[in-house]
Amino acid sequence: MSSVIEKNPRIIVALDFSAEAPALDLVSGLDPKLCRLKVGKEMFTRLGPAFVEKLAAKGFDIFLDLKFHDIPNTVAAACAAAADLGVWMVNLHASGGRKMMETARERLEGFSQRPLLIGVTILTSLGQEDIAEVGYSGSPAENVVRLATLADSSGLDGIVCSPLEAGEVRPKVNKAFLLVTPGVRPASVSKDDQKRVMTPLDALNNGADMLVIGRPITAAENPLQSLRDIQAEIATFGP
Ligand code: C5P
Repeated sequence: MSSVIEKNPRIIVALDFSAEAPALDLVSGLDPKLCRLKVGKEMFTRLGPAFVEKLAAKGFDIFLDLKFHDIPNTVAAACAAAADLGVWMVNLHASGGRKMMETARERLEGFSQRPLLIGVTILTSLGQEDIAEVGYSGSPAENVVRLATLADSSGLDGIVCSPLEAGEVRPKVNKAFLLVTPGVRPASVSKDDQKRVMTPLDALNNGADMLVIGRPITAAENPLQSLRDIQAEIATFGP
């Protein structure tokens, strides 16, 4: 992989299905030139690496969203397994600490096509009381910024964060550090269970680099058209 990260296509479609058939049915109507795909814990636990290989064989870049969190050697070995699988992006919890992140990053150095390594900061499902209960002081936003800068200085390629947090994180991290944001909704569609959302274009303007979008595409009557509409919306943002 070259040192310049190719951000396009910026849309990562979240494949949140409980079975293979509907997921493959959706993917058969999508275009790898227009989107990448995210495979999370449920689909990976049900279908395993073979499913990821099937998607990659169709030409899609795969974000393996397994959010590793363990001792440094174990996380590094899991990241190496993801690299062997040929995924484009993999993630871990930044709260696993500097040593864990640095060890994982070093282990990926040996791969000619290494996956991008992305950190999870504070899960957006956690509020002020939740993080206090597990021993974090300060607000969720303060902790997001602190963990983002730790991830940046530990050699990670970026973090996952909400588009609303992107604006606070962007000035505190390197220019090339990627902000990957879920919680994105075109103005015309339902927010589903997402509470704090931004439109795709607003998210990019707020500092996001890549957009994780699920149901606005996966549950659309015409997923490819929905993907094209979002691409058209963000085209004004530039490359
Ligand atoms: O369907 P929707 O666009 O809401 O899907 C968003 C995807 O991003 C889901 O896979 C969800 O688990 C993931 N995600 C999120 N918010 C976070 C982290 C991940 O919505 N904070």
